[in-house]
Amino acid sequence: MSRHFSFPLPTLSRSPRGLLIEGVALADIAERFGTPVYVYSRAALTDAFEAYRHALTARRSLVCCSVKANSNLGVLSVFARLGAGFDIVSGGELARVLAAGGRADRVVFSGVGKSHAEMRQALEAGIRCFNVESDAEIGRLNEVAGQMGKLAPVALRVNPDVDPKTHPYISTGLKSNKFGVAFSDALALYRHAASLPHLKVCGIGCHIGSQLLDSAPITEAARRLLVLVDQLAQEGIRLEHVDLGGGLGVRYRDETAPSVDAYLAPVLELFEGRAEELFFEPGRSLVGNAGLLLTRVEYLKPGEEKNFAIVDAAMNDLLRPSLYGGWHSAVEVVERDVPRRTVDVVGPICESGDFLARDRDLAVEEGDLIALLSAGAYGMSMSSNYNSRPRAAEVLVDGQAVHHVRARETMESLYALESPLPLGSM
Ligand code: LLP
Repeated sequence: MSRHFSFPLPTLSRSPRGLLIEGVALADIAERFGTPVYVYSRAALTDAFEAYRHALTARRSLVCCSVKANSNLGVLSVFARLGAGFDIVSGGELARVLAAGGRADRVVFSGVGKSHAEMRQALEAGIRCFNVESDAEIGRLNEVAGQMGKLAPVALRVNPDVDPKTHPYISTGLKSNKFGVAFSDALALYRHAASLPHLKVCGIGCHIGSQLLDSAPITEAARRLLVLVDQLAQEGIRLEHVDLGGGLGVRYRDETAPSVDAYLAPVLELFEGRAEELFFEPGRSLVGNAGLLLTRVEYLKPGEEKNFAIVDAAMNDLLRPSLYGGWHSAVEVVERDVPRRTVDVVGPICESGDFLARDRDLAVEEGDLIALLSAGAYGMSMSSNYNSRPRAAEVLVDGQAVHHVRARETMESLYALESPLPLGSM
């Protein structure tokens, strides 16, 4: 990496002890907790959340951190203490939010496949709103709420059919996606929901995609939703909030992501003078650049066409490069006077698709540490045990302090829920 490289993680800096995150040397973290290890910066998490708060000062609003991007309890607790809401997509995520000290009445529940049990769990907890995605779900939620003697707060997730111009796997607001209800069906579905005794219609939502780098698609989506809001009001169905989902992108390589202020400005202008409360569900823009994955070089393997740096992290720890061709900067933790080579940074997993970074110029040797940047979002939360690899540890740095927010999994934990067939069985 060139010396002019500016880190996407603002609390990362160079020092004679190598890279520092806030006041702590990454080399010390590797020594103490082993590798691979995810490292998060509390200051960076806080700054990212405060950027939303700042952009929304003049507006009644709720910022719901999208738990799927990073569901670690330590990370969630930082946001809970800042007064955040949370966007969840499963009962498991709700349990995590509550365990981290988050408030149920600031939780919105999205997702196309909510089970009876998840609905009961969320009604029991008293969440703020269900983002409902189909007519069948409207019926089921009404029934479950009725059985419990509760009134379920609902918003319809409407598919505004806006092209977010992002990777096809992470665009969600097109007609061809499984998410949301069709714009043309929305009025009828609202009438149905409003007629049911155990539902309270309170809002409307959308989420059009992720890693969006300009405001035009989200502003267009908001404009379309407001047409529905006004039509519903004429029928006496008044919506209290508009939820515009998540989606703001971050810089992984050389993208220019707008600031939160710039991204939200056209949306706020559109809502000027309107009474609805605004909800957002950011994930990546809160945690993406607040975390990195620290890994150690096991071997250097020169090849006929390519050289490889085989590291102790793999696609089971960070799936984005393999799954989406995602780019994560790979930087040497300690700059050393060793030959610089062009290498693919790959893991030990038995798949050719197991790579973390390709064609990078790195001055590393066996035993050296590499930091994979911008790994705070959809990193650990998408990890698996593939190849029976215990999942990485996670630490959260706060100034000089290092909090061990998830222990490395043990070998025993890999199969703790399994059993061989009983002795004597055929
Ligand atoms: N709300 C809903 C309903 C969503 O589906 C998502 C993300 C978000 C909020 C948060 O979006 P964000 O602010 O993070 O863009 N695994 C992929 C990203 C998948 C995003 C899915 N939905 C990746 O690693 O790029």
